Amino acid sequence: MRVGIIGVTGYTGNELMRLLFSHDDVELTYLTSHSFAGKPLDEIHPHYLKIMETVCRPFSVEEAVEKTDLVFSALPHGESMEKVSILREAGLKVIDLSADFRLKDAALYSEWYKRKHLAPHYLATAVYGLPELYREEIRGASLVANPGCYPTSVLLGLAPLAARGVLDWETLVVDAKSGTSGAGRVPSQTLHYPECTENFRAYRAADHQHTPEMEQELGKLAGQEVEFTFVPHLLPIIRGILSTIYVKLTVKMDEKEIRDIYEEFYRNEQFVRLLPSPSLPETRNVYASNYCDLAVKWDSRKNRLIILSAIDNLVKGAAGQAVQNMNIMLGFKESKGLNMVPLRP
Ligand SMILES: NC(=O)c1ccc[n+]([C@@H]2O[C@H](COP(=O)([O-])OP(=O)(O)OC[C@H]3O[C@@H](n4cnc5c(N)ncnc54)[C@H](OP(=O)(O)O)[C@@H]3O)[C@@H](O)[C@H]2O)c1
Repeated sequence: MRVGIIGVTGYTGNELMRLLFSHDDVELTYLTSHSFAGKPLDEIHPHYLKIMETVCRPFSVEEAVEKTDLVFSALPHGESMEKVSILREAGLKVIDLSADFRLKDAALYSEWYKRKHLAPHYLATAVYGLPELYREEIRGASLVANPGCYPTSVLLGLAPLAARGVLDWETLVVDAKSGTSGAGRVPSQTLHYPECTENFRAYRAADHQHTPEMEQELGKLAGQEVEFTFVPHLLPIIRGILSTIYVKLTVKMDEKEIRDIYEEFYRNEQFVRLLPSPSLPETRNVYASNYCDLAVKWDSRKNRLIILSAIDNLVKGAAGQAVQNMNIMLGFKESKGLNMVPLRP
């Protein structure tokens, strides 16, 4: 199959290229850049020297139709929706890594993303691309909305108990930390090396745009409207997310019973690993891999459950999950191109 990447010069575009380059069943036939159109790829990504000799193309729907069967959009939110709808109208399958097609409600999108949705007619048919929850829908999808990085870690952490209806939603607090690549490659004051190194801080407390996405998906699992407190933090590392989730339960359960629910829920999921007790997830154990490491810890003194979830934001939180979705959509083995061992020194 021939695949294209729109926005290949960004962090997730680069990660998609790394994963797809060694995928036997696909060929990268169309790579676009807005600012670097016409430039050799290895000038922008020097690590591709002598590996991939190609030139970045400007976006053209005619070229996409001629050269590809499926396109990944790795553009910023707001920029993605117009191009994705043009590609869909031309009949191409699309996996969108941006947030533009994740929320089902266009008004909610406008409220959190501070812009009007330009293609709301695609929201109903876009499939939320979390394979552990929506595998069958992804198989038949033409447009997959790849989940956000924080939502991937949080939803995988909470899904087994949300689906059981045993979470006391009023008590739910998610404290998540991400490495700096989560913000993309465009430089800014807060991401400047001296500003974020030797520093650790929260940002957008109770105001982050991933909140409604998580509430939408948890609400579907729980069969009720759900709201909770979410506070993201910026870690002085490049890759990785660790989410620490605090919640009380509506029924009495011990840690063994909770673990059994997780074991059962993820029994056939290659990329979700429930760690043996008492191990806790670490970002370096999932580094550059498609794994999500989970742990559940019952605080018996406070009758509170603590769930920990670690992913690599660029892989399971973006490009790896997108490749997993592509494999499902195109009928390849789901793990194709994703069987890498996490990178450890
Ligand atoms: N980084 C993460 O961990 C992560 C995780 C999950 C989802 N996402 C989502 O994935 C998408 C890409 O994220 P990223 O981190 O890869 O961002 P990025 O590093 O900033 O890259 C964005 C890409 O979009 C292109 N672009 C920017 N403005 C454009 C415009 N007006 N028209 C056409 N192309 C434009 C840039 O290309 P040129 O400069 O070459 O034109 C670049 O290739 C975002 O929607 C983000 O929210 C990111």
